Amino acid sequence: MAYCSYLNLYLAFYLSCIAPLSLAQTAKSSVPFKAVNLGDWLVTEGWMNPSLFDGITNKDLLDGTQVQFMSTNLQEYLSAENGGGTDVVANRASAFGWETFRLWRVNDSSFNFRVFNKQFVGLGGQGTQVRADSNAPGDSETFQIIRNDGDPNRVRIKATNGLFLQAKSETLVTIDYEGLGWEDSNPSNFKMTIVKTLKGEYQITNGYGPNRAPQVMRDHWNTYITDEDFGFMSSNGLNAVRIPVGWWIAQDPTPPKPFVGGSLQALDNAFTWAKKYGMKVIVDLHAVEGSQNGNEHSGTRDGYQEWGASNIQDTVVVIDFLAKRYANNPSLAAIKLMNEPLAPGVTLDTLKKYYQASYDAVRKHTPSAYVILSNRLGPADPKELLSFARNLNRVVIDVHYYNLFSNKFNNMDVQQNIDYIYNQRASDVKDVTTSNGPLSFVGEWTAEFAKGGASMQDYKRFANAQIDVYEGATFGWAYWAYKCAANHWSLKWMIENNYIKL
Ligand SMILES: *[C@@H]1O[C@H](CO)[C@@H](O)[C@H](O)[C@H]1NC(C)=O
Repeated sequence: MAYCSYLNLYLAFYLSCIAPLSLAQTAKSSVPFKAVNLGDWLVTEGWMNPSLFDGITNKDLLDGTQVQFMSTNLQEYLSAENGGGTDVVANRASAFGWETFRLWRVNDSSFNFRVFNKQFVGLGGQGTQVRADSNAPGDSETFQIIRNDGDPNRVRIKATNGLFLQAKSETLVTIDYEGLGWEDSNPSNFKMTIVKTLKGEYQITNGYGPNRAPQVMRDHWNTYITDEDFGFMSSNGLNAVRIPVGWWIAQDPTPPKPFVGGSLQALDNAFTWAKKYGMKVIVDLHAVEGSQNGNEHSGTRDGYQEWGASNIQDTVVVIDFLAKRYANNPSLAAIKLMNEPLAPGVTLDTLKKYYQASYDAVRKHTPSAYVILSNRLGPADPKELLSFARNLNRVVIDVHYYNLFSNKFNNMDVQQNIDYIYNQRASDVKDVTTSNGPLSFVGEWTAEFAKGGASMQDYKRFANAQIDVYEGATFGWAYWAYKCAANHWSLKWMIENNYIKL
């Protein structure tokens, strides 16, 4: 409080002449932060805001959708024999990995089918027999899915040569059927089952396509988070935002397709609003090229985790870009180098090499911004980065705590969830909070829990227990998320409805 005593502040309040500037000067915005994640803003997560996908044709057939096809004639599933590399057959009574095809969307109705071993289904260059041995999809790996008007999961699959795929026999699947018809005995008829969908940034931008996606995304960026939201956050006790961004932001305004430009302007706006309301910004590289975890929020096309050593250099370029742009912005608190790398696909060795190179990139531009290292998800020791991080300056270990996504939480009642926070989570936080090492940050948590359906009082107790314990983290915490269609995941909703008071 540089200018005024409490008395002056109250006077100023009653004279209603607190300009945003003086708020900025009086707000406490240093560690430990009370922060919130601006999830689903610059990196789409469809479950948080499903209606954003409503304008897409065939919106259930987006990139990465996993489908299975049962021949209605043979009552057997199509299968990429051996998981790929050879013939496609139609002789499986039930469907697992080899019988599952991941869609790459070419346009509203045409697709490539990626098999278990990552090859694509096609003609294999000659003859009519269907194979799964192409490493890059072209015209002969592109198929139109034609849906039955009355039953959208009854389909025929048409090749670019105008002929249909048919299951001639259990071991002979060909592209040479010319007829029409929707009878069960028609060898070109299949029952399609959708077993998994992805709804991330790749899916929404490629789903709308190059003509519509730019407008849809810009409208979303301009309305989902605004100046007023930063006002709401700061007046309700939050002093920082963690903003997930995707790797394509570094190539704004012309990122590689299907991503569209404009998210950089939105991030710039966030810095402007943060300054106005005396808040800090944590920039979080949430989606890296190749995908570090296969989740939709990693920007993946089809759910394969492919980020590795060969991607390090390109990803450091993204960090360098962000650090350079915001290094001298007083609202920059930290840059998080990568969200939720997943073990064992991302090895500790590769991750450390990347973290070191990205740390150096940030330090080229700023000595003071914190650098945040995400722990690995999956089978990984939560302390595995501590000794590495001890050699770096102003670094933070980011951990995410959800009483979800694991069977052990499925039957826990509210009190058991709360006990888990005071026992297990408290000890987890202690494990990554050391006296002369990196700071600790609970970068994601939420008041929802696996069983759900509890009373308002119970949700309040569960949220407060977490705030109690996560306040022990020396860099602070960040709620997931600010806005979400599922109410308990929305801190805005939780504050407005008196579930959470900071
Ligand atoms: C979709 O792609 C297929 C295959 O390239 C092409 O034949 C078809 O004309 C395209 N449809 C539209 C509507 O662009």
